[in-house]
Amino acid sequence: MDTLDLLLSRRSISPALLGEPGPTDRDIAAMVAAALRAPDHGGLRPWRFAIVRGAARQRLGDVFAEAVRARDPTWTEALLERERGRPLRSPLVVACGARIRPDHKIPEIEQLLAAGAAAMNLLNAAHALGYGAMWVTGPNSYDPMVAGALGFHAPDRLVGFVHVGTPPADVGAIERPDPRAHMAEWTGA
Ligand SMILES: Cc1cc2nc3c(=O)[nH]c(=O)nc-3n(C[C@H](O)[C@H](O)[C@H](O)COP(=O)(O)O)c2cc1C
Repeated sequence: MDTLDLLLSRRSISPALLGEPGPTDRDIAAMVAAALRAPDHGGLRPWRFAIVRGAARQRLGDVFAEAVRARDPTWTEALLERERGRPLRSPLVVACGARIRPDHKIPEIEQLLAAGAAAMNLLNAAHALGYGAMWVTGPNSYDPMVAGALGFHAPDRLVGFVHVGTPPADVGAIERPDPRAHMAEWTGA
């Protein structure tokens, strides 16, 4: 498959459908290397990744449940259990974030965009290696307690969780928009 076909064939796979095996150490290193090729204004290299797999996923689930309980003590045990189970859905969760330099001349938004571009490269690299993946966020990814537990202390920020694993044999096709619906020639006239 050539590179463009690879980019055009990437699709997200729900974490619930991502099975074993997860990426090897070598594949994780390749995915992170691809992520580090993201553009980065000012050479700040803000990208940081917390690799969560094996039993650590259970511990991350506990952090999620604790964070939810702290945000809203009325949550039932059943709902908390659902939070605990979130990281266990796929063999690998990569918590993607940015080490933010708040007073730097490069605006914070650009530091976050660099981290987002890195997460996108991580997704494409996972796809190139034959894995399925999906980028998810939700309230936990914006909770300072969750971020702190993963090593992202304010002003550092998480930009999301990339779940990675082996996709089902047949993931089906998804209809994509016509590119022309998202572009227009600007002539300045
Ligand atoms: C920053 C960001 C956060 C996202 N968070 C979620 C999420 O929490 N839950 C979800 O179902 N999809 C989320 N998505 C969307 C999926 O990752 C995915 O892009 C979407 O399901 C469309 O699938 P596709 O990537 O194959 O086009 C997020 C995407 C981005 C870029």
